[in-house]
Amino acid sequence: MAEKVEVMYTSDQIAERIKQMADEISADYAGKTLHIISVLKGGVFITTELAKALTIPVTLDFMSVASYGNGTVSSGDVRIMKDLDDSIVGRDVLVVEDIVDSGRTLKYLYDNLKTRMPESLKLCTLLDKPDRRVTDIKVDYVGFEIPDEFVVGFGLDYAQKYRNLPYIGSVSVEEE
Ligand code: IMP
Ligand code: MG
Repeated sequence: MAEKVEVMYTSDQIAERIKQMADEISADYAGKTLHIISVLKGGVFITTELAKALTIPVTLDFMSVASYGNGTVSSGDVRIMKDLDDSIVGRDVLVVEDIVDSGRTLKYLYDNLKTRMPESLKLCTLLDKPDRRVTDIKVDYVGFEIPDEFVVGFGLDYAQKYRNLPYIGSVSVEEE
């Protein structure tokens, strides 16, 4: 079996959209320092591009979560694999993710981080699959809304492959 990857968003289109998001976020947080929590591993790719385009002061931390389930369906049983290095008490926190699918991961993160008393807590994702949502999570900044297709690249993986593609592509598995 081989996978076929078809381009959905080019590297230029992604760069332009992230710049627009950065302008909006810089305006919304004017006069403040933004504490970005990047969700490993996929979120790192949008995080570095977004952070470089922000004009406000930025601090960074990383978190890794795993969601357990059967096959490709996440169960909602989310666990922290790597927690934050620093406290978020009193900080303006923005969680940056690669994709929101069922929304279970982000819902878990939101509820967990909210208990740690940040000054504010918002969510940002490069991609959103609204059709797949099973939670009532509100995402504040969305790069692109996409249909219910499996995508790779720009941080997103298929069996840990393709994260390094500079574009976003949809994957189909071909029989040989
Ligand atoms: P959730 O269902 O919103 O909790 O998403 C869980 C995780 O599934 C995401 O953080 C991604 O790592 C992964 N995921 C969901 N959809 C895709 C996709 O189309 N490509 C690659 N990973 C995906
Ligand atoms: Mg992810």
